Amino acid sequence: MASNRVWSVKSVLDWTTKYLSEVSGSPRADAEILLSHVMKRNRLWLYTNFDFVLPHDVLDKYREAVKLRHDGTPVQHITGEKYFMALKFKINDKVLVPRPETEELVERLLMDARVSGWKRFLDVGTGSGVISISIAKYIPDAEVWAIDVSEDALNLTRENAERHGVSKRIHVHKGHIDLKNIDVVVSNPPYLTEEEWEILKELHGEPIKALVGGEDGNDVYKEILQKYSPKRFYFEIAHPFRKSLQRLFDENGLEYEIFKDLSKKDRIAIVWRQNGTDTFS
Ligand SMILES: C[S@@+](CC[C@H](N)C(=O)[O-])C[C@H]1O[C@@H](n2cnc3c(N)ncnc32)[C@H](O)[C@@H]1O
Repeated sequence: MASNRVWSVKSVLDWTTKYLSEVSGSPRADAEILLSHVMKRNRLWLYTNFDFVLPHDVLDKYREAVKLRHDGTPVQHITGEKYFMALKFKINDKVLVPRPETEELVERLLMDARVSGWKRFLDVGTGSGVISISIAKYIPDAEVWAIDVSEDALNLTRENAERHGVSKRIHVHKGHIDLKNIDVVVSNPPYLTEEEWEILKELHGEPIKALVGGEDGNDVYKEILQKYSPKRFYFEIAHPFRKSLQRLFDENGLEYEIFKDLSKKDRIAIVWRQNGTDTFS
């Protein structure tokens, strides 16, 4: 982006869209989000001010942001925020950028929880706290335990819970926790295999611990199933529903239902123990 020419909103967005298309699947959206972030305006403003000439200080900040994006940093790590379930969350490079597919998991859980009257939830691998905080916001008398192995993630969960006014009902805890009478364990665990992670270079800007669940991708599912006995497990899963995960459920006599996301990909597993037994090997 040459610094000796005049850049309008439109010309800078057009230039950036082309430049970021080398590395991003959504270059136009990335360019608009970054420009509205540095200008402290919403995206609609950009469209109604295409001819606005960008001042030098804005251009300098924008240039830096575009360079980071071109080098592989996710847009949300640059802006430091992401909307999830219509709530605004603080995000940083220590946590996974929340995905729209995970909103579908939460929507299904909220729907079932309202019908069943579930009030006590455990969120394993809470990251920025998006699942826990959405549950606490949309079920006003819910109690949620939010756990993670990452202290950085837990700090962010605390901060986001505070921002949304639900910190009294979100119990943040590092590592596993001994809990009785939990209605639901919900988790979007790290579920990529090591081999998949190697191939998916576009994910390398996010923490590996948030993405990879051991050699077969199932490590955290195993831990959860061994440690907890809720009425239901709500899991996000990889697509296609992995044979090894299916085997894990089958060999342990678990019942389950698999649901697809809006892109018709296997994405949600609702799992429960037959006859309320809690054996697991
Ligand atoms: C895929 S991210 C999910 C973050 C957030 N829940 C979301 O949906 O956006 C997985 C999270 O699990 C955490 N994690 C990894 N191994 C774990 C384990 N054994 N027990 C608990 N949390 C774990 C990671 O630190 C990471 O924050």
